[in-house]
Amino acid sequence: MTTAPPAFPQARVCPHLPPPAYAELRQGPALRRVTTHAGQLAWLVTRYDQARTLLKDPRLSSDRRRPGFPVISVQVKLLTERKRQALIGMDPPEHDVQRRMFLPDFTLKKVSERRADIERIVQESLDDMMEHGPPADLYRDFALPVPFRVICRLLGAPWEDRDFFQDAIRRLVRTFDTAEGRQAGAELLVYFEHLVTEYKTRPDAAGLIGRLAGSGRISDDDLALAAMSLLIAGHETTAAMIALGAVTLMENPDQLAAIRTDPEAIKPAVEELLRFQSIADSANLRVATADIEIDGVVIKAGEGILVPGSLANRDAEVFEDPDTFDARRDAGGHIAFGYGRHQCLGQNLARLELQIALTALWQRIPTLRMTVPAEELTARPPGAIQGIDALPVTW
Ligand code: HEM
Repeated sequence: MTTAPPAFPQARVCPHLPPPAYAELRQGPALRRVTTHAGQLAWLVTRYDQARTLLKDPRLSSDRRRPGFPVISVQVKLLTERKRQALIGMDPPEHDVQRRMFLPDFTLKKVSERRADIERIVQESLDDMMEHGPPADLYRDFALPVPFRVICRLLGAPWEDRDFFQDAIRRLVRTFDTAEGRQAGAELLVYFEHLVTEYKTRPDAAGLIGRLAGSGRISDDDLALAAMSLLIAGHETTAAMIALGAVTLMENPDQLAAIRTDPEAIKPAVEELLRFQSIADSANLRVATADIEIDGVVIKAGEGILVPGSLANRDAEVFEDPDTFDARRDAGGHIAFGYGRHQCLGQNLARLELQIALTALWQRIPTLRMTVPAEELTARPPGAIQGIDALPVTW
């Protein structure tokens, strides 16, 4: 009797730990069949070396429109319907051209110049939270607004429209209903199409959108889609990591104490948090464009491939004692930001935000603590960026 391939991704039980069944998947073969949300069979890559080999392989496509692309959620289904794709869903040569266009805003040097701005945003968000608490919801009052303000400023997306953005994005990324998600995506796109048209006539228009609108380097439609995608990618992930990072540190008070006494210690701690959390199970999706032989397995052209960091980043051959959170380890080789040509465009920004936010939190509020046990926090469904939508705290 053969058993049906397991579903992937699976639900987290405790939001800051991978689903319990992933430990078993890691013990099995490096590549195995799984069933996606849409009921397709796809390949799951469970090991670090094979994950990096495949993410570098030019025979893998990121184009969501190709038949066989792994549909792991309603949100991916919506992307398969799109005529145009954002950066993450493009293949070369189109991908390389667009990535080069955005890169100047995300280099280490450019991002470092934003340090003072990010520090101010972090302090102001803490001021607001402390004025109204304790208690507080650390996700709503801190983890979410910090990266949201930072990415709005970088893009030049008007902050006064934040309620519209947040409502539409929530309806797009949290829904299980295709029609609701489609509607929310359409509203956001129309908004950015208008913004691009307006910025074309304004020489003083701000941010990345202002820099590229009317430059002749990218069509208005592609810029609107890119702006919408960057707004979502630029805060949803980082907000989740600030919240889950705070939970993990509060769950490990000795390591938190060590980080608080040594300002340099936050850098390796953030890398370890990224490895340990690996929140982007829904990223690193590919479809094979040719037959590929790897590890004695043939992935056929047209078959979907999932390369989740939550498995590769806990490969015991690369990370000793991988299920232990160790803020002092050298976790720098993790693939929480992906690997290869689609490796996260915003990683320098995300790192800096995490370092600043998770340092300032305990500098300002040394007695910060959760009011519920970590295992009682509500995990997001599989297929979403993993995280929490509420984090009750007091001090
Ligand atoms: C790509 C994770 C923050 C923008 C990716 C990928 C991962 C990832 C795993 C690779 C997807 C793939 O290969 O299919 C994360 C995590 C973040 C984060 C864990 C926070 C902790 C950000 C930020 C931005 C951003 C702040 C800013 C705009 C992007 C973009 C891509 C991407 C545009 C696509 C790049 C390409 O296709 O060339 N991210 N990300 N991300 N990320 Fe991030």
